[in-house]
Amino acid sequence: FSDGNSSSKIMLIGEAPGADEDKYGKPFVGRAGQLLDKMLAAIKLNRDKVYISNVIPWRPPDNRQPTTEEILQCLPLIQKHIEIVNPFILILLGNTAAKALLITNQGIMKLRGKWHQYNSIGLSNPISTRAIFHPAFLLRSPDYKKQTWADLLEIEKKIKSNENN
Ligand code: URA
Repeated sequence: FSDGNSSSKIMLIGEAPGADEDKYGKPFVGRAGQLLDKMLAAIKLNRDKVYISNVIPWRPPDNRQPTTEEILQCLPLIQKHIEIVNPFILILLGNTAAKALLITNQGIMKLRGKWHQYNSIGLSNPISTRAIFHPAFLLRSPDYKKQTWADLLEIEKKIKSNENN
């Protein structure tokens, strides 16, 4: 369950498909996805330049949040998915993806705003990782767009420094 360019070196990971994503079989095609496309465009990215997947490949019943048990069951799959893509930058969208993949109980408010090193047993080098607010959260709480803009600029800077090397 993914969208975008699988040879991209920029990988984004969300939580789980919603109703629209379930219908179309692609991540982030609903309202949150439209905002995500705008966020990507703000730093000159689009779906041909990134690769997108979710921690949970199925829509939880009634669109509820996935349970810890469900997250732990799906974690090896997304870890393996990241190992196969082996991106240069990992962008974790929202609380669920950030906590699950950074293996922490700190929330997104603490995790955003800095670089993390993501690792797993099949990777030869850790991956520079940024956790940012989920676009669905930003639709509900637009006041946090300013902080997200700062995070996106840091991501853009990192991408540019890699292109220049
Ligand atoms: N929210 C997510 O976290 N993932 C999707 O694919 C769609 C909405």
